[in-house]
Amino acid sequence: MTRRLPTAAPSPTSTTERFPFPFLHDQYRYSTNVEPSGSANSTAAGSWGGTRIVIDDHYRAEIDERHRILRSDPSRHQCLPHMVPAAWDCMLTVMRDLATDYPESMTLAREGNRWRWKNLLKNIDHSFVYGDESTLPEPPLSYICSQIQEDIVLLDQRDGQLWADAGVVTFAADWSFGFDVGMSFLQIHGPVPRIHSEGVITRAHNFLMRLESGQSYRRTNWTLTVDGTLDTSTETYPMWGRDRRAIAEGPLEDVGDRLYLRTEVQHLIRLANSNAIMFLIRTYLLPFRELATVPDWAERTHKVLEDLPLDMVEYKGIGRTREPGMRWLRTYGGVEL
Ligand code: HEM
Repeated sequence: MTRRLPTAAPSPTSTTERFPFPFLHDQYRYSTNVEPSGSANSTAAGSWGGTRIVIDDHYRAEIDERHRILRSDPSRHQCLPHMVPAAWDCMLTVMRDLATDYPESMTLAREGNRWRWKNLLKNIDHSFVYGDESTLPEPPLSYICSQIQEDIVLLDQRDGQLWADAGVVTFAADWSFGFDVGMSFLQIHGPVPRIHSEGVITRAHNFLMRLESGQSYRRTNWTLTVDGTLDTSTETYPMWGRDRRAIAEGPLEDVGDRLYLRTEVQHLIRLANSNAIMFLIRTYLLPFRELATVPDWAERTHKVLEDLPLDMVEYKGIGRTREPGMRWLRTYGGVEL
């Protein structure tokens, strides 16, 4: 699918139209919620999901933010030595996606034993040899992640398990990639309540291990975030943790602008050359004031928040913000009980 280039400043309307609203029902519980990637999903405000990698009006701001974070904390980029082939595989796969979906600004061409990559949005015109790091200005994973808004984790499959052994993650929702790198899929999900007793994570693990070359699925996850902060990783908790208290203790009228519904669209892709799994995580943020312009979303978000069991509320870290969010939706967001 061909998309228009991002030219204008971020527009709240277009953000709402493309927002991947995550609630399919009035009640939200964890599940192995995967569907094939590729086709667009309609919402009450528009649609999302036509492409795996999405470039939107926030492109420049978000890649600048990633650059700033990586400079101040290089541990957000990790690639264990055995994952170097997967990092190349990932880079080329992302370039191919971009060249297919955004041909006006991205092209990839084979020139003898070299590849020529152009990204006009970043004024890049670069020729490289696949697998030869001396022909890139930086390692393949950080090179490609400096040109997309998605975070990436690469999982190795060995000994009947999946291992998160490489990635660039600058926009984590309350976890630490630097801490998790090298851990297994099952270990990483250890702290999540309910998913073990309900078999969600074993089913997801088995599903991922059976993914075949080139197959691609997606799922969503969500939480609430204050002030549209993308980097809510464990490392920077002292910078953003107290904002939750500010929502609880500040004026209710401010909540519509300060509290955001945060959706992650996650793609799970089996890479053809390396057999690694590429996990794309794209974060979308919508302030409650915009959310409330879509009455169905306001109603449903209120119902989901009201019904959410306490262990999930606590795990998601929304104990302080859920109640003010619901109150704002009732007072200013048109939700009637
Ligand atoms: C958290 C499910 C794939 C990494 C979670 C949560 C669920 C979940 C339910 C809790 C989220 C919340 O309440 O906000 C799944 C399912 C998957 C999947 C069903 C596949 C079908 C992956 C993959 C990775 C991953 C491939 C890559 C390593 C994480 C991390 C967390 C998380 C880092 C946060 C854990 C923490 O609190 O430390 N996942 N996940 N997930 N997931 Fe997954």
